[in-house]
Amino acid sequence: MSLDDAKRNAAAAALEFVEDGMTLGLGTGSTAAFFVEFLADEIADGLLIKAVPTSETTRRQADAYGIPLIPVEHVERIHLTVDGADEIDPNANLIKGGGGALLREKIIANASDLMVVIADASKSVDVLGQFPLPVEVTPFGFTITAKKVFDALRQTGVARPGVRLREQASGGKPFLTDGKNYILDCKCGSIPNPLETAAALANIPGVVEHGLFLNMARTVILGDDEGAEILEFES
Ligand code: 5RP
Repeated sequence: MSLDDAKRNAAAAALEFVEDGMTLGLGTGSTAAFFVEFLADEIADGLLIKAVPTSETTRRQADAYGIPLIPVEHVERIHLTVDGADEIDPNANLIKGGGGALLREKIIANASDLMVVIADASKSVDVLGQFPLPVEVTPFGFTITAKKVFDALRQTGVARPGVRLREQASGGKPFLTDGKNYILDCKCGSIPNPLETAAALANIPGVVEHGLFLNMARTVILGDDEGAEILEFES
């Protein structure tokens, strides 16, 4: 299976949720980037929407494609957010933040009437946790915060957590989010109690946000070589 074809198919299928007059949240990552590309084609064909990006990377891409953007401060209602995911469990709970945009992604998804997740089918898992859980933390005190994150993971059932500061691809320096925070990538193996883990992480001073997106997605679109499957979940 070509991963890019699978991502493209998932992204293309999300267009059916877009209607004239909507304000859209634009996700971040390679799958979301395909959606932005397809959306730009629709706009060129006359679709009327406004959008708010979830990262500087997506802002630059959307700008380059001529998608009308509005500053987040001016947004009154977001009808639909379309975003990717690193893992999706059978209840549409997600791990996100592989691209480091989890804070803005969560703010925008949480403010949206509907979150549609687009992903290649390999992102579907039985239990969350194979993908390292990203946790955004303030640079100040991050080693103290990292220990608290480790404890929180252990106390909520993660057997052997590993907490690692994300570095820039060029090496050496810490990766910085758009908000100039750090990311701790937390090796979990499996997260048996996502709700408890999410609550424990949210309670730690220094944790800005974590990559568990629980009970947020109502629609998941899984793409493969052939097309895409649309899964709907109860609210
Ligand atoms: C960025 C994200 C992305 O949605 C996630 O990493 C999936 O990316 P991709 O579509 O490239 O696999 O959460 O913070």
